[in-house]
Amino acid sequence: MNRDFIAKYWYAYIYEQLENQTNDVEFLLSILQKHTDGSSQKILEVACGGGRICIPLAQAGHTVTGFDADEHMLLRCYRRMKGMSNITCYTANALTSDWGTGFDVVVLGGNFLINIETGETGMDYAQAQQVVIHKAAFALKNGGHLFLDFDLHYDPARIFNRSGESSYFNGTDDIGTYGRTVSYGSVYDPVTRICTGTRHWEIKANNGESFIAFSEQWHKHIPSQAQVYGWLSEAGLTIERSYKNYTDEPIHEPLDESMHRATIWARKD
Ligand SMILES: C[S@@+](CC[C@H](N)C(=O)[O-])C[C@H]1O[C@@H](n2cnc3c(N)ncnc32)[C@H](O)[C@@H]1O
Repeated sequence: MNRDFIAKYWYAYIYEQLENQTNDVEFLLSILQKHTDGSSQKILEVACGGGRICIPLAQAGHTVTGFDADEHMLLRCYRRMKGMSNITCYTANALTSDWGTGFDVVVLGGNFLINIETGETGMDYAQAQQVVIHKAAFALKNGGHLFLDFDLHYDPARIFNRSGESSYFNGTDDIGTYGRTVSYGSVYDPVTRICTGTRHWEIKANNGESFIAFSEQWHKHIPSQAQVYGWLSEAGLTIERSYKNYTDEPIHEPLDESMHRATIWARKD
């Protein structure tokens, strides 16, 4: 039994089923409608996963390119894009690959900024976040726009200092694998802004065999508003609009207590 395949296949399926609690896709489509000239845009979605965002963009008539490092996520995307001629997807690592150039819009959605896997690149996490923003700017044509959608917390310690067991995804996939993700809490360091935690997935395959997958200690850098705005500015991106928690209200500087999700529409000068 290929445990790695079974676990990753399960996760890609469950992610697609359960990661639909926000209206981020509708929000992006409405921003495109309001703030471009209404013509079909040439769009790059970085870390497109199973196609939750890039498929609706293609269905709306845009010419879309997507890539992701996870082949299991991409398999779902390939299935959904069958028969569509205006979308291309491929496997690549965002930190080490060439993203191409000349795009009207680059999408860094689905909280990718806080979920970058640095893996074998060994890159410092904050540096990886900065690199991703710089690469987005490079891939845009002059006058093109970055759509950046990520968690921006007023008080990260309140969110990330957690103890005790919790599970954010559980369920059974279409080949009968049951699984649940298990986290054992996390700790946020306000000086380095690094959050560290442990997690694994408990998997029961359709032949009844149970095993633990992807047991790991993870870490991520939780950027401040000033860091993100600084990276955008250094990369030659000017914030034209910002949206707080998927509303028309702009993001305040400094942040206020009710802030949790930031959406930024920034122009390459
Ligand atoms: C939270 S999911 C978002 C997927 C999709 N954008 C969505 O919103 O449904 C994060 C995705 O980032 C991908 N990813 C993480 N690090 C990556 C990297 N260094 N290069 C390419 N893809 C990466 C993962 O494989 C995963 O599909």
